[in-house]
Amino acid sequence: MDKFVIRGGNPLLGTVRISGAKNAALPAMAAALLTDEPVILENIPQVRDIETTRELLAAMGAEVELGYGRAQHRTTICCRNLASPEASYELVKTMRASTLVLGPLIARCGRARVSLPGGCAIGARPIDLHIKGLERLGAKIVQEHGYVEASVERLRGAEIVFDKITVTGTEDLLMAATLTEGETIMQNCAREPEVADLACLLNKMGANIEGAGTATIRVKGVSKLHGAKHRIIPDRIEAATFIAAGALTDGDLNVCGCDPSHLDALLQKLQEVGVKTKHTSDSVRVEGNGALKAADVITEEYPGFPTDLQAQYMALATQAEGTSIVTENIFENRFMHALEMVRMGANIKIEGRRAIVRGKTQLSGAAVLASDLRASASLVLAALVAEGETIIDRVYHIDRGYENIEEKLRAVGAQIRRIGEILPRKK
Ligand code: EPU
Repeated sequence: MDKFVIRGGNPLLGTVRISGAKNAALPAMAAALLTDEPVILENIPQVRDIETTRELLAAMGAEVELGYGRAQHRTTICCRNLASPEASYELVKTMRASTLVLGPLIARCGRARVSLPGGCAIGARPIDLHIKGLERLGAKIVQEHGYVEASVERLRGAEIVFDKITVTGTEDLLMAATLTEGETIMQNCAREPEVADLACLLNKMGANIEGAGTATIRVKGVSKLHGAKHRIIPDRIEAATFIAAGALTDGDLNVCGCDPSHLDALLQKLQEVGVKTKHTSDSVRVEGNGALKAADVITEEYPGFPTDLQAQYMALATQAEGTSIVTENIFENRFMHALEMVRMGANIKIEGRRAIVRGKTQLSGAAVLASDLRASASLVLAALVAEGETIIDRVYHIDRGYENIEEKLRAVGAQIRRIGEILPRKK
């Protein structure tokens, strides 16, 4: 298991380029299951979850070419010969987003067998809303032996009102609805840019979708979809993580290749905190001013403040003068990073869904444990301002969703290196 060794104290200076959005690329890859023609996706990030999705699709008989180069990170997926419409426990347990294949498989093959994901480090994360929605479209669903088994002759359009806003639930149902007979109207949908990006790809494939990116999505079903070429949107969470790092380290960082219109919640919050940012159509420049002010944050569905940025914001709040209350509304157990930050000297008290962060505290380097993807990122941020050396264990979490984070950080002045675990010699 790799670890990061980070020596804090350097401001981040220079330019960093943002990769494609993992959470847009994953549903886009699953969407290739809807057609027997090749789907070409560009700006695919080089992260572990993409590799897992490649394995998942290949196990079903899909041909997946995945190549990374200087200019183009691209995959071509052809699902002409699908051998088995099944996602095994072995793969689903390593990546919950594997459940995104459920909707496309049932729509294209009339049957699907997908492992139920278990609990997760950040919350229970059931998929009951995916299942309810598919049942509304006419699928017959049985849950046994840890698997969801779905079958249908042909899906029929229906009205679906989500009880709760769900991102991958909206995406799963959106994909299924493209191949139904008749019209589907989905209400209380997730409005995340990743949902809109998926709809954009599906429309290029011949689907008829209106309203993606709003709470109501209308899908007129078609009988067949075809191949298409699509460029994945930039990763707003990666961009936001680097912007927070620039602010936190009192740096001067140009975060380029991002879409600032997806970052409104963070940019407004930074203004409140006292950090100056300037943006063009595809970049954000952040300049630290050495004096952060405390500000409260409540995570909400898009366009609210993202839960995927809560941990990174908490690192920032430890360096702000005053008390910041961070409220986590989306997941019930997403404060594991706080306990690690306390080990580094932060003053954080957890009260249910609220974390009370009192700053400014001088953090000191320590050995800490990463518990999930965004928690790992927040520990990297905390380490960048800590005195001395921090060793972050279990960085495989960060490799799931951040492309070459250590190289990107090193290039703008951070002292960070990766070390592999030295195993004790066998006697
Ligand atoms: N929920 C249910 N039933 C469902 C589905 C969701 O109760 O059937 C609940 C969840 O337990 C949670 C809330 O609804 O409390 C929202 O969950 P959502 O379904 O929106 O989350 P997700 O689709 O599983 C995606 C991202 C997450 C991100 C969340 C929230 C992908 C692949 N994952 O997950 O990203 O945190 O939306 O924005 O898009 C990450 O990238 O680190 C990450 C965890």
